[in-house]
Amino acid sequence: MGDYEPVLLRNVGVEGAATIGVYKKRGGYRALAKALKMTPDEVVEEVKAAALRGRGGAGFPAGVKWGFLPKDRDVTYLCVNGDESEPPTFSNRVLMENDPHQLIEGTIISAYATQSSIAYVYLRVEFHELFHILQRAIDEAYAAGYLGKNILGSGYDLECYIHRGAGAYICGEETGLIESIEGKRGWPRNKPPFPAVEGLFHKPTVVNNVETLCNVPHIIERGAGWFTGIGPPGSSGPKLFCVCGPVNRPGCYEGPMTITVRDLIYGDAYGQGMIGDRKVKAVLPGGISMGILTGDELDMKMDFADPAEYGLLGLGTAAAVVVSEDTDIRVVLRSIAQFFAHESCGQCTQCREGTSWMYKIARRIAAGEGGPGDLEVMYETAGNLGMMPGLSICGLSDGAAFPIRTLIEKFRGELEQHVREAPDEIEQRSPSTVRS
Ligand SMILES: Cc1cc2nc3c(=O)[nH]c(=O)nc-3n(C[C@H](O)[C@H](O)[C@H](O)COP(=O)(O)O)c2cc1C
Ligand code: SF4
Repeated sequence: MGDYEPVLLRNVGVEGAATIGVYKKRGGYRALAKALKMTPDEVVEEVKAAALRGRGGAGFPAGVKWGFLPKDRDVTYLCVNGDESEPPTFSNRVLMENDPHQLIEGTIISAYATQSSIAYVYLRVEFHELFHILQRAIDEAYAAGYLGKNILGSGYDLECYIHRGAGAYICGEETGLIESIEGKRGWPRNKPPFPAVEGLFHKPTVVNNVETLCNVPHIIERGAGWFTGIGPPGSSGPKLFCVCGPVNRPGCYEGPMTITVRDLIYGDAYGQGMIGDRKVKAVLPGGISMGILTGDELDMKMDFADPAEYGLLGLGTAAAVVVSEDTDIRVVLRSIAQFFAHESCGQCTQCREGTSWMYKIARRIAAGEGGPGDLEVMYETAGNLGMMPGLSICGLSDGAAFPIRTLIEKFRGELEQHVREAPDEIEQRSPSTVRS
């Protein structure tokens, strides 16, 4: 993608880009001035026309979500989801650290469009340095009249606060995040009601991801037509991709959603190939929660549609973990299972118990003590704990199930080699009698 002109990352590496002066010199806050001359509904319609899909994982169209807000509301809140807890995703951090005003401008325009009076930026607590960078940028925006009362003389008021979470994966889930901002334990809420109707402090609330909001100023400035001209239909606009593992150039890159997993690993503008020319054994291309690909499935497009063709849950966070041929797939299985068993909030029985069972079995298999029935028990458990079968409150359970199910489906041969020939009773073992 040598001819791709970065949009979201255009200020990365520019000296002083995190300051308002440099941001403005490079065209910053022009889109805000333009948006404030439009009506809020016109801004919503432009974002709808751009078909901007959420970058936080689910890919829901942002403008459509904003349109769900009730017409007769008194107070509206905007929550900026900067929790970024999906392994190995760090694109939100790159955006906020290098170009905080891009996010602030996107937040103000989106808050104006939704007529929000307060924007909360939810940051995970591990982002220590980033917190100070963002707070400095917010202070600059207040001083320049872009936040606070009567923004640029438009009559529109907006307050903006950073809320720091305690570092839990579940607080990235939008209703867990809302509970956390309210000062409670970050336990997801049953839906409906959806946040647009009853969210933060039981008021209509929009939750959007950092990268989603960073796209908004560019849509307003250059128009929906420009945005839909980038990438394939249904997957339009600039996109950030992360790649990590044994690649020559791990990092966060920008491109259109026409690239494939192969491009992300081998492309000159991306990962630049495998260290020591090792072969790719597997890739988790959407964070870890979307599922796994084999080394023969690298032609999958990094867009919103193609992952389903490969049995995956979705594009997720578009952050790829690459696994090389010299990695034991049991270790991958165990790490994934461990993560979800640790992060399940425990409210739903299937998720709480199922993720623990899967971890116990995965640990046993990795230790060379697995029995023939273990894979079936784990596979069956993974098929019975998600929102998809209607058994849980939030999507963490589907995110726990998909990587395990796809890994067993696609690497069964290798796993079976390691599962020792065991006595018959192991085949009969039910989940409730799984040893730890
Ligand atoms: C377990 C779990 C963790 C999540 N973590 C994040 C996160 O860290 N950041 C994020 O933006 N969205 C996360 N999401 C998705 C949010 O619930 C929500 O869909 C998103 O913030 C909406 O923003 P978007 O429409 O702009 O993508 C998570 C979802 C689940 C189920
Ligand atoms: S699905 Fe899991 S993480 Fe989500 S609310 Fe239920 S127990 Fe908690």
